[in-house]
Amino acid sequence: MPADMVPFRPGLENVEAAKSAVSEIDGKRAVLEYRGIAVETLAKESGYEETAWLLMKGDLPTQRQLAEFDLELRSKRAVHFKLKDLLKCLPASAHPMDALQSATAALGAFYPCRTVSDPAKNWDAAVRLTAALPTLVAAFARVRRGEEVLDPRSDLDHAANFYYMLFGKEPTPAARKVLDACLILHAEHNMNASTFTARVVGSSLANPYAVISAAVGSLAGPLHGGANEECLNQLEQIGSPAGVQGWLDAKVAKDPKFKVMGLGHRVYKVKDPRATVLQEFAEQMFAETSRPKNYETALELERVCAGVYGAKGVYPNVDFYSGVVYQALGIPTDVFTPIFAIGRVAGWLAHWLEQLQGNRIFRPEQEYTGKANVAYVPLEKRP
Ligand code: COA
Repeated sequence: MPADMVPFRPGLENVEAAKSAVSEIDGKRAVLEYRGIAVETLAKESGYEETAWLLMKGDLPTQRQLAEFDLELRSKRAVHFKLKDLLKCLPASAHPMDALQSATAALGAFYPCRTVSDPAKNWDAAVRLTAALPTLVAAFARVRRGEEVLDPRSDLDHAANFYYMLFGKEPTPAARKVLDACLILHAEHNMNASTFTARVVGSSLANPYAVISAAVGSLAGPLHGGANEECLNQLEQIGSPAGVQGWLDAKVAKDPKFKVMGLGHRVYKVKDPRATVLQEFAEQMFAETSRPKNYETALELERVCAGVYGAKGVYPNVDFYSGVVYQALGIPTDVFTPIFAIGRVAGWLAHWLEQLQGNRIFRPEQEYTGKANVAYVPLEKRP
């Protein structure tokens, strides 16, 4: 191994892969900041549109900048009719993340941005991607059920319009707020797998639609974006708050290393700040209706697990409550991860734009562990 080679680290754990000013996490103090602003503050005080601008541009917008950005987003929500045809051609059984990945790549064929040397065109593509992802997710959620695709409404904000395109009705104020907060809370989380994917693909100067499509593919994996789905399945399995202790005891008796879904995080060793704030919004929404049973079960699971795993620094992460919230909004389970993507696109784009400044193509090394000097045996001499 050459003297200057960094030793192999599986998963690049603790390896700095970029210098970034987009977000910062302090896992011991439960701090997550976007461009220096606490995520809880943004979830409570800001809106998704403003947060997306903050992430991509680096600072809060002026009133005029936000008004213009908002208008631009609204004008780019509609997608070419052939993109809807493309979604109709996919099997109804396709996973919505596969549909989203395909449609995002196809956006690049309809609204090309083949070279990434013009900042104005890059921005145009970034706005289109932010605006159009909700349209694509909602369109596939409807066409697979044989329902008509709804055109976006320019009189609604980002979160309310997405809800409308999914269900054909406007959300209540509390439902709109919780959805908007979910998008903000999922918008960015520094160098995770999908963000790293976006930076790697972007580093080859690939077009932004290819960049975001690749990031969607990375997010689709169960080790990354899929935990909220599994967390909800787990709550359904437990059934009720009274079932928590018995369920956990049985699981641990079978496998002492059993992992409770929605608990634990590589970075946070206290309760994930996103889980705390999401819970507050969920409480507000449930106050309008009633607390769903799964939420009561989740509360009891959190209480019991704090006693068992708290000493190891294992507490609820953002996925612990997001699934319950989405279910209460009537969103199908397999659309949870696509909603994560609708929020995260702003973070991916912020990293892509940052990567393009002073770009160097990613080209790591490997430690070769294969054979050497192997003789080629002609096919006819092989069994
Ligand atoms: N349930 C029970 N115990 C857990 C746990 C969980 N969800 N997560 C971690 N632990 C325990 C481990 O068993 C280990 O115990 P030990 O020290 O006695 O061996 C200790 O906590 C450290 O766990 P480790 O696996 O090293 O933590 P990690 O940082 O590598 O893993 C996750 C982080 C997220 C992969 C892990 O917590 C997990 O699988 N969580 C469930 C899936 C999930 O919610 N994912 C979404 C993440 S946003």
